[in-house]
Amino acid sequence: MSISALGYVVIAATDMAAWAGFGRDVLGMMPGAARGDGALALRLDDRPFRLLIEPAAADAFRAIGLECADAATFAQVLAAVTAAGMAVTPGGAALAKNRCVAELACFADPAGNAIELYHGRMTDYAPFVSPAGVSGFLTGNLGMGHAVLPAPALGDAVAFYTDVLGFGDTDRISVPVTPDPDGPAITVRFLHCSNPRHHSVALADMPSPSGAVHIMIEALTMADVGRAYYRAKAAGHHISATLGEHANDRVFSFYVRSPGGFDVEFGCGGWQPDWSTYVPTISTIDSLWGHEWDFG
Ligand code: FE2
Repeated sequence: MSISALGYVVIAATDMAAWAGFGRDVLGMMPGAARGDGALALRLDDRPFRLLIEPAAADAFRAIGLECADAATFAQVLAAVTAAGMAVTPGGAALAKNRCVAELACFADPAGNAIELYHGRMTDYAPFVSPAGVSGFLTGNLGMGHAVLPAPALGDAVAFYTDVLGFGDTDRISVPVTPDPDGPAITVRFLHCSNPRHHSVALADMPSPSGAVHIMIEALTMADVGRAYYRAKAAGHHISATLGEHANDRVFSFYVRSPGGFDVEFGCGGWQPDWSTYVPTISTIDSLWGHEWDFG
């Protein structure tokens, strides 16, 4: 496998103050150093940011940042993307500096989801201290968490991630969206990169006007999750799913609507399979308990 981790996400925002309050006071992320471009860096660890919020005229989920371990891997992946017929745009020195990486390049997956491929992430080793008292987030070599992206033409998108980018096929869920078990279903494919996290990217066969289905960040304890749930409720944010435990990745979590219109899953306890013995499954439920959805 080629990609090491989901390193960051970039979000375009019309309301920077809303994102600052949501990221800091609800999610417990640490604002990063002030930037000259007006963007808001939100940290989960000692990386310069895991969420980068850029001021814009319209809200949009802008890109995922995928990390390569070194320049050679970076070049190999880009060669594979080009060979697959996808247009690659070099990031250039200015964008690399903006993203705090040594080098990056930009392309889109077959569903149109923007990807920034990079190597050489910078760190200043400033300790992470959550302003909301979160004990910490599970990151490091596991990356920032996961992103679930829209891919109505699911097969083509999955093939790109597995055959071109080198992701591994973790598993899938296929759940009916009506009470009729034989009615229409949503399928989500879960994909892992070269780390033990159950999935770093998942693809859902559904459209998403905001540009993302959800992103997930993983705290260290159940208390972190429970406290975040009640902070979100107290602040009046829309709870898209109540506390619950997912079936396939065992994550204990809830979902809250972000100012960007997509959900943030705040969880803990994600399964880290041993890929050498792992056998994929097809789950017919999404959660063992809880996760009462409210799509309104
Ligand atoms: Fe998730």
